[in-house]
Amino acid sequence: AQAVPGYPDPTVHSQRTHNPNANYTSRWTRADARQIKAMSDPNAGPRENSMPPAYTMPTVPQDFPDMSNGEVWVWDTWPLTDERSNQYSVNGWEVIMSLVADRGLGFDDRHVFAKIGYFYRPAGIPADQRPRDGGWTYGGLVFDEGVTGQIFDDQSYSHQTQWSGSARVFPDGQIKLFFTDVAFYRNPDGTDRKPYDARIALSQGRIHADQDGVWFTGFNRVRDLLQADGQWYQTGAQNPFYNFRDPFTFQDPRYPNKTFMVFEGNSAGQRGSRSCTNQDLGYRPGDPHAEDLETVMDTGAILQMANIGLAVADNRQLTKWHFLPPILSANCVTDQTERPQIYLQGGKYYLFTISHRGTFASGIDGPEGVYGFVGNGIRSDYQPLNRGSGLALGNPTNLNYAAGNPFDPDFNQHPGAFQAYSHYVMPGGLVQSFIDTIGTKNNFRRGGTLGPTVKINIRGATTAVDYNYGANGLGGYADIPANRAITISR
Ligand code: FRU
Repeated sequence: AQAVPGYPDPTVHSQRTHNPNANYTSRWTRADARQIKAMSDPNAGPRENSMPPAYTMPTVPQDFPDMSNGEVWVWDTWPLTDERSNQYSVNGWEVIMSLVADRGLGFDDRHVFAKIGYFYRPAGIPADQRPRDGGWTYGGLVFDEGVTGQIFDDQSYSHQTQWSGSARVFPDGQIKLFFTDVAFYRNPDGTDRKPYDARIALSQGRIHADQDGVWFTGFNRVRDLLQADGQWYQTGAQNPFYNFRDPFTFQDPRYPNKTFMVFEGNSAGQRGSRSCTNQDLGYRPGDPHAEDLETVMDTGAILQMANIGLAVADNRQLTKWHFLPPILSANCVTDQTERPQIYLQGGKYYLFTISHRGTFASGIDGPEGVYGFVGNGIRSDYQPLNRGSGLALGNPTNLNYAAGNPFDPDFNQHPGAFQAYSHYVMPGGLVQSFIDTIGTKNNFRRGGTLGPTVKINIRGATTAVDYNYGANGLGGYADIPANRAITISR
C-alpha cells in the first residue's frame, strides 16, 4: 500500500509468533499510530465525523434508556466467560458484572468510588423483543463492605475501590472473579498523600439461580495475585499516575494446560525518563515523514508509555501467577491501553484494547474507542488493524477540532465524540460499551449506562462496522447475549 501523502508509511509487522515466555515485545509505533490521523478527512466541517464509517461506531441518539432506572452509574462491564471467552447463561439467566457507583456522585467522580455490581435478565430473547433498556434487573454489589480492603498492608487509605476485571464461570457454578483492587491515599484536598496502590486480585464465589433470580455466595476473601514489579511493569513509586489493572484470563489452544492473563500496564522506569527508542517510532529507512527521536521526546511524549502485560498461572486453581514480558508497548504513542483482551478467530490472535483521545502522545491523534492488533500467537509481532493504524472502532469524532471533555464538549466536536467507551468485543464480533456523554457543548447528556451493542466484521488485518446489524448498525441497548448455557443445582 502507498503511504497517504504527508504521512509516513506504517511500520512493517510480520505477525510472526514468539514463545509466550520469550523476551519479545511488539510495538504499536508512532509510524503506525500516525495512520489514524492520515485517514481523517481534513475537510470535515464542525460537528461532522472526520473518520471512515467502517471504523466508526454509528451515532447513538441522546434519548438513550437507563438500564438501572437511576439506581447506579454503570460503566465497565463484563459477562461470565470460560477460558475461550464464551459467554454463559446460568439456569436461564444472563448475568453481567459492572463497575457501579452511587448516582448521588458526579459521573466523573466515579473512579474512586467504584464497586463491582451485577445484573441479570432472562436468556434467549432476541434483542428486538426485549425492553428498550435491555431488560436487566440490578442485583446489587458483589462484595460486602470491607472485604476488598483487606489485602492492603497500609489500612490508612482514604478510598478503597474495585476496578475492572473479568469473571470465569465453571460448570459447577464456581466463579473466579479477577479484578483490580485499589487503595487511594489522599489528603482532604484531593492531593495524594502517597501514590495509589492497584493490584490484580482474585476472589472466588458461587453463582446461584432459581426462577426468581440470581445471587452469589462466597466472595468474602481476596487473594493478591500480582503487583507491578518495576522491571516490566511500572510501579507507583516510579510514576504516581501509573496504570496497572484490568485482568483478562484465557487459554491458548497451543498451550492447553496453561492459563494466561493480559492486563493494562505501563513500561517500567522513572516517569519522564527519556526512554523511547527509534524502534518505538518505527519509521522505515529514508521515510521523508520520519520524526527525530530527540525532538519527539522533547514534546513530552515520554510521558505516554502504555503496555499490555502478560502473566501465566502457576497452578490449576489460578491462585498463583507470575509475570511474563509485556506483549505490546505503545511508548511515546499513548499512556493507556485499557481492558485488553485476546480474541481468537480463524487461527489468528486478535488483541483488542481501549484507548482515549486524551491519552495519546503529542503528535498522535485518534478517537476514543477500541484498537486492535493481529498476530499468529499471543506473543507476536502484532500488526495494527486497518491500514496499519490500530483503529478498530472509534466514536464519531472530528480530528480537525479539539477533543473537549465529557463534562464540557468542544463547540465544534461531533456529538458522539464521547458517546461510548470501555468497549468489550464479544463472540461473533459484537461489541458492548458504556455511554459517557452524548451531545454538543450546550446540550449534552451524561450516560452511566450501557450503550447499544454494535457488530464488527473481523477479517484478516481488517475490521468493518456491520451496518446491517440492528437499526443501521445499532443493536439493542445493553445487549450482552450468552452464546452458551449451563445448568447448576440452585
Ligand atoms: C476504563 C477504566 C478501567 C478501570 C476503570 C476504573 O473505563 O479506566 O481501566 O478499571 O475504568 O473506573
